[in-house]
Amino acid sequence: MSHKISSLEQYREVYQKSVQQPEAFWSSIAESFEWEKRWDNVLKWNFISPEVKWFSNGKLNITENCLDRHLVLDSDKTAIIWEPNGINEPTRKLSYKELAEEVNKFSNVLRDLGAEKGDRICLYMPMVPELTIAVLACARIGAIHSVVFAGFSAQSLGDRINDAGCKILITADGLFRGSKTVNLKAIADEALELTSVIKSVVVFKRTGEDVPMLPSRDYWWGDLMEDASIEAAPEIMDSEDPLFILYTSGSTGKPKGVVHSTAGYMIYAYYTFLNVFQYESEDIFWCTADVGWITGHTYIIYGPLLNGATTVMFEGVPNFPDAGRFWAIIDKLQVTKFYTAPTAIRSLMAAGTDFVNPYKLSSLKVIGSVGEPINEEAWHWYDEHIGKKRCPIVDTWWQTETGGIMIAPIAHVTPTKPTFATLPLPGVQPILVDSEGNELKENDVEGLLCMKFPWPGIIRTTYGDHERCRQNYFTTFPGLYFTGDGCRRDKDGYYRIIGRVDDVMNVSGHRLGTAEVENAIDEHKNVIESAVVGFPHEIKGQGIFAFVITESLIGDITQFENEIRDLVSKIISPIAKPDKIVVVPGLPKTRSGKIMRRILRKIAEGDTSNLGDITTLLDPGVVDEIIQLIQIKK
Ligand code: WT7
Repeated sequence: MSHKISSLEQYREVYQKSVQQPEAFWSSIAESFEWEKRWDNVLKWNFISPEVKWFSNGKLNITENCLDRHLVLDSDKTAIIWEPNGINEPTRKLSYKELAEEVNKFSNVLRDLGAEKGDRICLYMPMVPELTIAVLACARIGAIHSVVFAGFSAQSLGDRINDAGCKILITADGLFRGSKTVNLKAIADEALELTSVIKSVVVFKRTGEDVPMLPSRDYWWGDLMEDASIEAAPEIMDSEDPLFILYTSGSTGKPKGVVHSTAGYMIYAYYTFLNVFQYESEDIFWCTADVGWITGHTYIIYGPLLNGATTVMFEGVPNFPDAGRFWAIIDKLQVTKFYTAPTAIRSLMAAGTDFVNPYKLSSLKVIGSVGEPINEEAWHWYDEHIGKKRCPIVDTWWQTETGGIMIAPIAHVTPTKPTFATLPLPGVQPILVDSEGNELKENDVEGLLCMKFPWPGIIRTTYGDHERCRQNYFTTFPGLYFTGDGCRRDKDGYYRIIGRVDDVMNVSGHRLGTAEVENAIDEHKNVIESAVVGFPHEIKGQGIFAFVITESLIGDITQFENEIRDLVSKIISPIAKPDKIVVVPGLPKTRSGKIMRRILRKIAEGDTSNLGDITTLLDPGVVDEIIQLIQIKK
């Protein structure tokens, strides 16, 4: 039976059913998978502890559904098309059969290294097919993968390895990103100094540069794969066994490890990919994200492969060798469905249509957006110059914690509206509440976006710290999952996401906590305290504005700013570097010592006309001083 929705009336019907009979709705989708043993119970849940269990006691392996299942009829179909960073290197294709064999071989490699069900394995890799192979091999043997984006620093990598207690690290000698080469192994080695949990390191050869290899710890991917068998029995997993951990930033403390389950995530990735993009078997689907983020997990790897689709993996960046690279690849590979981020659209828009015009883009059928609110101008540019007004734009709202798309148009089905993520997908029950948690039942309202019922892809816990999961998502409004986003629902019931209302910033679609960046800045020997906020940035969506109190007077301000930026790059990642840094005599604090970020945000936006009530501040005078300092700086 097809689970693909093909008209708006059908969407309304299916949506009704998914709300009235969620168990029947989701089990009809679960039926279409391969199970080793059927589940006993579709759903058990509460949003208080919280505890959510989908398809309890079902037994399965997700890779049988991603790979083996397609080998009967589609073994020669292309699973992955890999487009390298450089334009002179050839495109590489892997059929479902080839991918399955590579996954089996690497599963045997991991087992030979002592990996067992439940072990955590860290992946710190370039965007090469071996990253996907490694992810799936972990899933095949029941090990929990923790992919760390290869743009993160040694410190961030080390922290994540330690938090998850990873036993094996899979990395590469280096990577190519635009005109740059990054020595990944050197960063990995630095991270390994910070941890003692890793027993083996597998190094994939990508750049061919000389890297030190530690005997009886470091192994070359190629050597280990040489004699590995192409058969590997899948580990039988429980529906609720964790599939992966993915770290993401929150409003407090260090990034937390979001844990996703096996069956629920699988069903949700499959269903949302099929419907939102209206997947057809001849599609060439390209999601431009990195596998290091949830978008890459769900819409480069799992969603497409569960549907038997052809998925594109691109190693490079949008502006190398020039700002026409995306459009060149679309024509070259005849991409039918394309999924990218507003920040990429804005930067390519700024480069001008001269970079688009040489390309036909006639293969495109659906174009998507994800990661941050898409502004009106970028939406129209995307519609006009890329979709040529023929392709629906699917503006998809979701989060690392939701596992898959939650609010989005279904391509060709849901009428789109610029900047609106439109309507909830079947099974998704959003509600808007005011700051006291009262439900805003009407349309044409603005409030805080929550979910009142579980969907299969929901976060199960934060690794090693369930209390943090409870605190973060389930205590703000008891009985609800709180997303952290502000949202508008218009007169037609369409949702428009406004942005985070907590201390989480969204810089070029990358999620960063203010506390995380502040902690990095505070490591500078001359810094006493800092506060950072996001501010509107033309390309990045949000930029980072840092207010810093120093111990002594700064002589060379440029040097100081460089030191701060270097420090943040080193501790977190270059993506977290503050755009603006201003040294201030003090910070606006309440009498209880809490920094009033609301005021700093206004100052950073350059909107000082209406700062609201500042009389409750410990020292209201400091606000004027900061405003003056910024004016001098300009
Ligand atoms: C936050 C989640 C989920 C994939 C990538 C980001 C923002 C995400 C949209 C959108 C407006 C969006 C939200 C959300 N966001 N998609 N279509 N429109 N805002 O995942 O790193 O977990 O970040 O990204 O603020 O809470 P993430």
